[in-house]
Amino acid sequence: AQLNKLAKAAGKLYFGSATDNGELSDTAYVNILKNTDEFGQITPGNGQKWQYTEPNQGQFSYTQGDQIVDFAATNGQIVRCHTLVWYSQLPSWVSSGSWTKDQMTSIINTHISNEVGHYKGKCYSWDVVNEALNDDGTYRSNIFYTVLGESYIPLAFEAAAAADPAAKLYYNDYNIEATGAKQASTVKIVTLVKNAGARIDGVGMQAHLIVGSVSAQSTLQSAMNSYISAGATEVSYTELDIRFSSLPATDSGLQQQATDYATVTKACLAVKACVGITIWDYTDKYSWIPSTFQGQGAALLYDDNLSKKPAWTAVSSVL
Ligand code: XIL
Repeated sequence: AQLNKLAKAAGKLYFGSATDNGELSDTAYVNILKNTDEFGQITPGNGQKWQYTEPNQGQFSYTQGDQIVDFAATNGQIVRCHTLVWYSQLPSWVSSGSWTKDQMTSIINTHISNEVGHYKGKCYSWDVVNEALNDDGTYRSNIFYTVLGESYIPLAFEAAAAADPAAKLYYNDYNIEATGAKQASTVKIVTLVKNAGARIDGVGMQAHLIVGSVSAQSTLQSAMNSYISAGATEVSYTELDIRFSSLPATDSGLQQQATDYATVTKACLAVKACVGITIWDYTDKYSWIPSTFQGQGAALLYDDNLSKKPAWTAVSSVL
């Protein structure tokens, strides 16, 4: 059987995939993506990011995000909306301004109320703040942090909650799938937001992982449970891909990748509050990995020719 159907039968809300605007003209690709037995959830890979939605101050554009959100609605798929406050893909008018605290507060409030307002009722969840932490657990120094300190985080959650009371509000980051300094600081972010009186519902673990270097299932579960103990009501794997750090992929490597995907899937199944798994696109054909990590790739469940890999079989047999 197929992935979303199996995930739902196992008590999860969805098994989903990211996608992007350019890919929607690839008919063979779309035929798999729109099949709700396979994918019950969609994340826009780029179109809802600040550089596209507010390229100039006060000038909002939702053309790209709408295309993906409308695609999902047409096919009866839920949407994880992504992302509101992030240091990357941030237009230079935000990142290179010299803002006062009041100005930055207003910039964040305006951006969030406009974008979340535009998508009100259409997002299962929002990744409200993305990648606020360095790998050592300290705060990443971005323009928001420079002007406002850590208070930009609860501020963003408050604005998102006001604009769409029904959307689940997430903190989302990478290298927080296992226990360690960054996971401990993620716990602190959940506490920070709650102590400020704002709502945070979930922690999204991006899970951009490497074949052969995936943590034990019990470690993955400990990280998830730490977020729930801190007061999040749910967690999810939001951008899962497991890449080869060198190519080409060998047969034994593909078997290891299958084992690694099974480990992550089993961890989500074992934690009730883990609501679903999203892969960061479903095919190697459209993976972001090769362009970001030189010489790496083959990270997804379908190969470049849209054929299922051993990892697909492993996930489906575990679900
Ligand atoms: C990536 C997209 O997939 C690429 O197309 C884009 O060029 C850069 O961003 N963490 C995130 C995602 O939260 O938004 C990123 O997506 C991957 C890392």
